[in-house]
Amino acid sequence: MGKFQIITHPLIQHKLTILRQTKTGSKDFRELVNEIAMLMGYEVTRELPLEDVEIETPITQTVQKRLSGKKMAIVPILRAGIGMVDGFLSLVPAAKVGHIGMYRDEETLKPVEYLVKLPEDIDQRQIFVVDPMLATGGSAILAIDSLKKRGASNIKFVCLVSAPEGVKALQEAHPDIDIFTAALDEKLNENGYIVPGLGDAGDRLFGTK
Ligand code: PRP
Ligand code: URA
Repeated sequence: MGKFQIITHPLIQHKLTILRQTKTGSKDFRELVNEIAMLMGYEVTRELPLEDVEIETPITQTVQKRLSGKKMAIVPILRAGIGMVDGFLSLVPAAKVGHIGMYRDEETLKPVEYLVKLPEDIDQRQIFVVDPMLATGGSAILAIDSLKKRGASNIKFVCLVSAPEGVKALQEAHPDIDIFTAALDEKLNENGYIVPGLGDAGDRLFGTK
């Protein structure tokens, strides 16, 4: 079973509390999502493999460390996942960005896929799927199905707020992936929103319904 980790860094928790509040407008909401994504990116890249490399400083030859292993891809689930991309890219500017477009049908709460645009070598990359919300888990599960269908195998899922129902569903559907979240909330309400949550992340990020 993959790892499930709540990232409890005080800066992340503080920013998330501001993010949740109704009075936080789109501009601040966008900035906070980015900042939290960057701080989470720092935590979720902790275990990236390193290798030795011989370099020359102005003083001497020396053996130091550099990242080894797979190149990275960041894959936001549209729309709200887009809000987390810049934060990640500020840490790994060379990562490629794939996009998976998905919306939840408001009646069935089932996700509907409308776009998949990925780097050609996605099967070779360490993938970070990003989406602020893990509610029923439907969107994350379908996005990861879609990635696996295209040969991807090294996948980590990173969200800001999750519901127990979504975590369970995602772990059952994809037991191999690691899940990172800044908060595990109480439950889903009858409309599939996370409680206490932060409302509709896409609407709040972009100021549209
Ligand atoms: C939100 C969110 C997730 C999904 C989570 O997207 O960004 O993708 O809901 O819900 P689930 O776990 O029940 O699938 P939404 O469908 O509202 O689309 P949007 O990002 O375009 O607003
Ligand atoms: N999607 C959101 O944006 N918010 C929720 O609470 C659940 C799904």
